[in-house]
Amino acid sequence: MNAPLPAKIFNTGKTDHANPEILLGEDPGLFDTINKAHPALWKLYKTLKAQDWDENEFDYAPCNVQFKGCDKTTYDMLVKTLAWQWEADSVAARSFIAVLAPVCTSSEAWAGWMEISRNEIVHAATYSEIVRNSFDNPNDVLGEILAVKEAMSRLKTVAAVFDDALAASHDYARGVAPNDQETYNRIYLFVAAILCMERIQFLASFAVTFGICEGTGLFQPIGKAIQKIAQDEFEIHVQFGKEVLRTLYATARGRAAFEACRERIVQLIDEVTQSELAWTDYAFSEGRELTGVTCNMMKDWVRYSATDVARFFGLEDRVGFDLVDANPLKYMENWLDMSKIQASNQEEDTAQYKVGVMRRDDQDEVFAVEF
Ligand SMILES: [Fe+2]
Ligand SMILES: [Fe+2]
Repeated sequence: MNAPLPAKIFNTGKTDHANPEILLGEDPGLFDTINKAHPALWKLYKTLKAQDWDENEFDYAPCNVQFKGCDKTTYDMLVKTLAWQWEADSVAARSFIAVLAPVCTSSEAWAGWMEISRNEIVHAATYSEIVRNSFDNPNDVLGEILAVKEAMSRLKTVAAVFDDALAASHDYARGVAPNDQETYNRIYLFVAAILCMERIQFLASFAVTFGICEGTGLFQPIGKAIQKIAQDEFEIHVQFGKEVLRTLYATARGRAAFEACRERIVQLIDEVTQSELAWTDYAFSEGRELTGVTCNMMKDWVRYSATDVARFFGLEDRVGFDLVDANPLKYMENWLDMSKIQASNQEEDTAQYKVGVMRRDDQDEVFAVEF
């Protein structure tokens, strides 16, 4: 009866309250808001919590008539884009917590990832509600959506990293894998892959949705709902991911992970970018088009997003695509507050947040890494 709880469930011997590691630190004990080790993560958590919304805030009924009346190319492009968005947010709604539960050892980071996961459920439910309300036979459209093989293959690169991280995390939970640099690296890469998915892939898909809403004037309730999703992704999830990666990089283990994963991250950014470019070609094939947006403009948008991620890691000289530093899709400014991605720059210590902080600045330094 009086046996102590297992340390992984509740760690009474915790000694790192003042500065807990985000990943694979000492096992968690008290949920601690006294020692604010990661205040920026806590702030993002609070902001997201305060802006909680519901998938049924929007009336999608007018879209039913518009799907019936619009031309086939618009219908196809919107449905194929919804297919990927629905699938990807379904993955996000389930996988983050599944992977991170055994390995996240910071109260603030855990609160943030939990809130982001709740938010991903709202996103996934929004796509589901859009389909449920926009079609007379939603189950037929469900089949149609699952048949878009190109949408599935668009997820392949990040799904492989997620799958490996899930195995690493659960092997660790079962005591099969040790708490070593190798396990850490596999989880670190997962955090990098989430950033690629959210910053490059989601933003690419939002540009198509908003392009359709702008160009046709139709599907405004869908546009408004996905605008909320885009704000969550762009202003909170992406920021949170970057902040976690910066914080990890400030630790010896995080730096070692970045060094060990550097080539893999280059490859990850390149593969995700290539798959988005290939998807864009597919989206604009078979006669599909967007008013005012060419296939090349949309591809530049993909590169514009990928450039941000490459520069964040200080890998812009290593990636295999042409860098794009100016927004090629002006209409996106009507849908997103483009300045928001830099929000923490003005509010926090600029030196800590400057773009490129992941650049290598540890040449000639030797870090003492204890495992
Ligand atoms: Fe999402
Ligand atoms: Fe997200």
